[in-house]
Amino acid sequence: MQRGIGLFDSGVGGLALLAECVRRCPSERWIYLGDNGNAPYGNRTAEEIACLAGRAVERLARRRVRAVAIACNTVTAECADALRARFRFPIFGIEPALRPACKGGGKVLLLATRATLASARVRALIRANADNAQITEFCPIGLAGDIEAHAPNVRAVDLSRHLPRGEYSAVVLGCTHYALVGEGIAAFYGCPVFDGIAGTADHLFQKMNICSKKCKKRGKNAPIFLGEGKKINKSTFLRLF
Ligand code: DGL
Repeated sequence: MQRGIGLFDSGVGGLALLAECVRRCPSERWIYLGDNGNAPYGNRTAEEIACLAGRAVERLARRRVRAVAIACNTVTAECADALRARFRFPIFGIEPALRPACKGGGKVLLLATRATLASARVRALIRANADNAQITEFCPIGLAGDIEAHAPNVRAVDLSRHLPRGEYSAVVLGCTHYALVGEGIAAFYGCPVFDGIAGTADHLFQKMNICSKKCKKRGKNAPIFLGEGKKINKSTFLRLF
């Protein structure tokens, strides 16, 4: 059996990264695990997040994956290093794309979960970019859960119930769930949004030596969906991408 690459998120949030990976290399064996029954993770304690994430990566390890991409800012911020110490294969993470968003200066809105914003990792990322732009942080507390509840029809979510008003030069989507409604968020603020998905895929492909050109010649493998959320994740993936 071809050993695949696992992607993991608390639910439907990681599907945009999955789509980017499939688009770049359809012949790779992509295996997606969403923990939808326990989503959202963002309001949970660090201990709960670490426990759920460990269990999910363990499940991917049993499929003998070559690597895991954590398609979740919350899990990356809380426990990517602990997961790396525990598993032998490479583990990649995703972080809020503050650097490219702040490059142009101005006012930057960072949207992320409570756990992500509180994490030492993201606090350091904010400090490192604070000289370039004026960063405002906001946690739309129910947004990831609302997106999850609307799946597969995620674009029906009423964003105006969750987003703070204001004028910004850029918005950082620091939660992969928000990337699924990224077009709506861009339209709401009338400015560009940054989701970090292409950057994460670049890193994964480079480190794992996955070559998009060769891949495309080798035919296609449909992604495999695991776990109790497999039906909803598959139907959301097919609906959106
Ligand atoms: N999609 C995840 C993230 O990137 C988690 C959202 C949640 O479960 O609260 O942060």
